[in-house]
Amino acid sequence: MPLVTTTEMFKKAYAGGYAVGAFNVNNMEIIQGITRAAKKHNAPVILQVSAGARKYASHGYLVAMVKAAAEETGLPIALHLDHGPDFETCKACIDGGFTSVMIDGSHLPYEENVALTKQVVEYAHPRGVVVEGELGQLAGIEDDVNVSEDDAHFTDPDQVFDFVTRTGVDSLAIAIGTSHGAYKFKPGQKPQLRFDILEEVAEKLPGFPIVLHGASSVNQDDVKTINQYGGQMPDAIGIPEEMLRKASSMAVCKINVDSDIRIAMTAAVRKHFAENPTHFDPRQYLTPARDAIERVVSHKIETVLGCEDKA
Ligand code: G3H
Ligand code: 13P
Ligand code: ZN
Repeated sequence: MPLVTTTEMFKKAYAGGYAVGAFNVNNMEIIQGITRAAKKHNAPVILQVSAGARKYASHGYLVAMVKAAAEETGLPIALHLDHGPDFETCKACIDGGFTSVMIDGSHLPYEENVALTKQVVEYAHPRGVVVEGELGQLAGIEDDVNVSEDDAHFTDPDQVFDFVTRTGVDSLAIAIGTSHGAYKFKPGQKPQLRFDILEEVAEKLPGFPIVLHGASSVNQDDVKTINQYGGQMPDAIGIPEEMLRKASSMAVCKINVDSDIRIAMTAAVRKHFAENPTHFDPRQYLTPARDAIERVVSHKIETVLGCEDKA
């Protein structure tokens, strides 16, 4: 099956009260782990590529591998640019086989965010590509996404109608208390999401698909495994699964997960080397890593997203 946009996926997800998982991909094993889980559960899936992933694996390899996964599984798969930093990167992805792009103007003053997002939409739509915009800013640090807690702020529901109508975006990422990376809440801190903001946004934009970034749950067993086998991850808490399930049943149609995949992969590789110190064939340690990704994504589909059998 050729790659698809997210339009049909989101229409069905909104109506059905579930969300589609958007997982970050950086190499073949990650793509295979995710799409094997999606196939097992007959679930639609979004594979997303950050600017850092394009730098690491290169555009051409990622597009070719994602197309191969769509052909092999026969599933509806969208290829999405995650946190597009500028017009040029979005253009390169629109011209280069992606079916969806995010332009992340969330750090810009409002009018500049509107202007940049509109520019991307005007280039994307005539070429059959959909666009995700963002209002409000999540905290968190990853390779190319770095926002301090002081700079983070919630989405203002009074801006969303104006932003969506003036830009023409197809989906909107909002900030309601999630954050990027593996360290979202300190131990002892009570995770909270602003469902009141999500509700208000949904009232202002009836039927419009909302996106939740920074939605990893940070599996404590995987963190323990990493630390048991020589890692040094500080204790941290992610987004509770029941909160994500609740968001999926509301206007949230796309849930972004990257850190949980990284953590599961690292735990599997560290454990493998501890138990098999003589191994040096990458296939030996990347097989359990790929299996761990498949388990994580299966679990998300079953317990958080609710998109089983929705392909
Ligand atoms: O939200 C950002 C994604 O997790 C991508 O992270 O820039 O380190 O590839 P990255
Ligand atoms: P996590 O760091 O919570 O996995 O979020 C990933 C994300 O939002 C990618 O855009
Ligand atoms: Zn993100």
